[in-house]
Amino acid sequence: MTSLQWGGRFANAPDDELLRFGSSLDEDLVLAPFDVACSLAHVEALLGGSVVDDAKAATLTAALRAVAAEIADGTFATHARATPFEDVHGAIDARVRELAGSTGDWLHAARSRNDQVATTLMLYVRDRAKRAGKASLAVATSIIGHAREELERKSVVAGTTHRQPAQPVLLAFVLAAWSEPFTRAAQRCILVASDSCCFSPLGSAALAGSTLPLDRNRAAKALDFVAPSRNALDSISNRDAVLDLAHACVRAVVDASRVAEELIAWSAPAYGYVRLGDEASTGSSLMPQKRNPDTLELVRARAAKLVGAYAGALGTLCGLAPSYQRDLQETKAQGIAIAEDALATLEAFARAWKTIAFARDRMSATALDGYTVATDIADALIAHGTSARVAHGLVGAVVAQAELEHRPLGAADLARLARQTGVEKLQAPLDAPASIAAKRTCGSTAPGDVRNQIASIEDELARLREALS
Ligand code: ARG
Repeated sequence: MTSLQWGGRFANAPDDELLRFGSSLDEDLVLAPFDVACSLAHVEALLGGSVVDDAKAATLTAALRAVAAEIADGTFATHARATPFEDVHGAIDARVRELAGSTGDWLHAARSRNDQVATTLMLYVRDRAKRAGKASLAVATSIIGHAREELERKSVVAGTTHRQPAQPVLLAFVLAAWSEPFTRAAQRCILVASDSCCFSPLGSAALAGSTLPLDRNRAAKALDFVAPSRNALDSISNRDAVLDLAHACVRAVVDASRVAEELIAWSAPAYGYVRLGDEASTGSSLMPQKRNPDTLELVRARAAKLVGAYAGALGTLCGLAPSYQRDLQETKAQGIAIAEDALATLEAFARAWKTIAFARDRMSATALDGYTVATDIADALIAHGTSARVAHGLVGAVVAQAELEHRPLGAADLARLARQTGVEKLQAPLDAPASIAAKRTCGSTAPGDVRNQIASIEDELARLREALS
C-alpha cells in the first residue's frame, strides 16, 4: 500500500528522508477520530449530490466505522506508524481503501486534504475548547468551594499590592477574586467551541469548490455546523479557530500561573499561609526536611512555554499568502501541542487545588502587620471633613511614629488625630474584622458583599457548566 495520495504525473518516487521531514503523522494522530467524523460527513455530501450511490456510501461508511473502532482500540496508530504517511488524513484514506476495496477510491471525490484538514481541525478545536472550558470550570469550582468555607469561618488575611501589606481582607474575598479569571476562561472556551467553529469548510475542495454536486448543507448538518462556509478560498486558508483555541488555552494557563505563584509564596514558611498536600508536593533528594510545591512551579513554567508556542503559531501565519500553503501543516502541530499541554496543565492545577489547606491562624495573626488599617483611619478623618491629602499626611506621620516605637496603631493614635483635626471623637477600625466590615462599596471585601459575590459566581458557574454539558 503506497503512502502517497498522488503520483501519476511524477517520474521519480519522493526521497524517503524528505517524506519523513514532511510528515506530521506523529503530531496529528490525535486528530484521527475527528478525521473519520469529517470523512463520514463527506460521504453524506457525496450521497446527497448523487456522486456515489447508496451501496457505495454504505461501503464507505462501514469502512470508516471500522477505522473508528481501530482508532479507539489503538490498533490504527500502530498500523499508521508502520508506513511513512504524510499525515493522519492520508493514513485514514489508505486504510479505508484497504478495507473497502475499490469503492474506497471514491472517498476522496470532490475533496482535497485542504478542506479536509480545515474541517477536521475545527472538529478537534470544538472538542478541546469544551474540555479546556471544563478544566477551567473545575479550577474555578474548587477555588469558590474554598471561598465559601472561608467565608463561614470569617478567615482574614492581609491583602497586598506590590507584595506589601495593604489592607485586611476576607480570605474568601481573595479566593473569589482568584476564581474570576477561570470563569472568564471557561466563557472564552465556550465562545471558541461555538462562534469560532460554526461554519463548515467541508466541500471547499482544494480552493475553488467543485464541479461535482456535493451536498455541503447535508455535510454541515451532519457535523453540527450552523451552515457551510461562505468562501472556499478563505475556508482552506483560515486557521482562526485553532488560534482562538490556543489563545483561550494560553490565557487560562497564564491565569493559573499567577494564582500558582501566589500559592508558592504563601506555602513558604516565611508566609506559612498555605499547605499544599503531600500528594501535590515533592521532596529533595538531599535535604530531608524539604517539601516543595513542584506542581505549582510547573504550572507557572508551562505558562511561559505556552506563550512562546502561541507566538510561534501566530508567527507561522505572518505574511502567509491567503490560500493553502504547506506552512499551514505546522499550525496543526502547533495548535495541537498548545491545546494538549494547556489541558494537562489546567487539569493538574485543578487536582493540586484539591489538596490545599489554609493556615487561618497564621493569616489572622499577621493581618495587621504593616499597619493595614491606616487607610480606614484616613477615611474616618475624611468623613469628618479633613481633605484626603491632609488626612493621608497625618496618618502617615502616626504610622511612622508607631513604627519607631514597634507597636501597632491604637486608641491613643486616634485621639491624637482627633485633636489635630478638631474632631471630638474619632472612631475608626483598629482590627482586621472591623476594617473589613466597615467597607461600604459594592464589590468590596465586606462580608455581606463577599457572600453576594460568591453566590453570583456560583450561579455563573452553574450556567457555564450547563453550556458545556
Ligand atoms: N499534510 C498537509 C497538512 O496537513 C496536507 C497538505 C494538503 N495539501 C497540499 N496541497 N499539499 O496540512
